[in-house]
Amino acid sequence: MTPQIKANLPKRTVSIIGTGSYVPEKVMTNADLEKMVETNDEWIASRTGIRERRIAAKDEATSDMAAKAALAAMEDAGIKGEEIDLIILATITPDHFMPSTACLVQTKIGAMRAACFDISAACSGFLYAIEIAQQFITSHTYNTILVIGVDKLSSIVNWKDRNTCVLFGDGAGAAILRHRAHGHGVIATRMGSNGNLADLLSVPGGGSACPITAENAHLELNYIKMEGRETFKHAVTNMVESAKQVLDDAGLKSSDLACVIPHQANLRIISAVAERLDVPLERVMVNLDRFGNTSAAAVAIALDEANRTGRMKVGDYVLLVVFGGGMTWASSVIQW
Ligand code: UT7
Repeated sequence: MTPQIKANLPKRTVSIIGTGSYVPEKVMTNADLEKMVETNDEWIASRTGIRERRIAAKDEATSDMAAKAALAAMEDAGIKGEEIDLIILATITPDHFMPSTACLVQTKIGAMRAACFDISAACSGFLYAIEIAQQFITSHTYNTILVIGVDKLSSIVNWKDRNTCVLFGDGAGAAILRHRAHGHGVIATRMGSNGNLADLLSVPGGGSACPITAENAHLELNYIKMEGRETFKHAVTNMVESAKQVLDDAGLKSSDLACVIPHQANLRIISAVAERLDVPLERVMVNLDRFGNTSAAAVAIALDEANRTGRMKVGDYVLLVVFGGGMTWASSVIQW
C-alpha cells in the first residue's frame, strides 16, 4: 500500500530535483525519407527545421524507452525506486490499452511502492502530468513523483504519407518532482483544451469508436492524420495566449525568463511564439533538428538537455509551453 501523507498542512513548493531522457539509437535522416516518399531535405528543413529523428527498434516498446529515461532522472535526482510514491506517464502510444504503461515502467525501475497511471493529452501530456504531480505534492498527498513523457510515434505514423511521416520521431523524457524545503519550483501552470478541434490531429481508428477490422484495415485508420496548416495556426495562438497568462499569474515579464522550452513540432511555430512573446531565439531551447516531434517526450527531452547543458542556473525563471492533439495546450513557469 502506498502511504498517504495527506494532512491539513499549508501548501508546499514543488521542485524538479532530477531529469532524464532517452532516444533510440537508430537515426533516420531527411535523406532516408527521400527514399520512402516524394520529399526532399530542403522542403523538410525549411518548412519544419527537422534534419533527423530517432526511430525505436521493433522490439523496443514505449515502456522500454520510458524506463531508461526514468532511470536517468532517478540517477540525476539521487533517488532509488523505493522512494517513488507515484508514477504519471503521458503517452498516446502505450504498450497496450491495458495494463497502463506506467505499471510496466514501475516493474522495470523497481518502484514497487508507487501508484501508477497513464494520461493522454498528446504533445501536451508531459506538462499536464507535471501539473497533476504538483497538485499531489502541494496537497501533501505524496512526496516524490516520477513524471514521464514518452512516445513511439513511429508505430502510428503512416510511412506513405509525406504530410506527416517527415515530422515525427521516438523518445522519452522524465522528471522527478519533490517538495524541497526552501527550494525553488513550479510557480504557475495553465492548461487548456478545445475538443471542437479534435479532428485536426487524430488517430481515427483502433479505439472503441472505430476498431480496426479485416474489412476496414485497408483504410489505414490507425495512423496519425493531421491538417497541418490549421494545426499550425492554433498552436501559435494558444501557446502565446497560455504563456502570457502564466507569466501574468507568476507576476513575471518575458524579459525575466532565462530560458523558454517549447514543444518541438516546427521551428516556424517556435520562432513565431518567441517573437510574439518578445523572447530572443538564443534564449529558446531547440532540438527538433535532431529529434523531430516526439509528442509527449519532446518538451521533456528538451528540459533534460537544457538541464544537462547548464542552460538554467539555480534561481532562473524558465517557461515551458506545449501544444498538441485534442487540441490541448499548457504553459508552466518554473524557478530552477
Ligand atoms: O505536435 C502537435 C502540433 N503539430 C504541429 O503543430 C504541426 C503543425 N503544422 C506544421 O508544422 C506544418 O503545417 C507542416 C510542416 C505540417 C506543413 O507545412 P506547411 O507550410 O503548412 O505546408 P502545407 O501543408 O501547406 O503544404 C505545402 C505544400 C503542399 O503542396 P501544394 O498543395 O502547395 O502543391 C504539400 O502537398 O507542400 C507539400 N508537402 C510536401 N512537399 C514535400 C507536404 N508535405 C511535404 C513533404 N515534402 N514532406
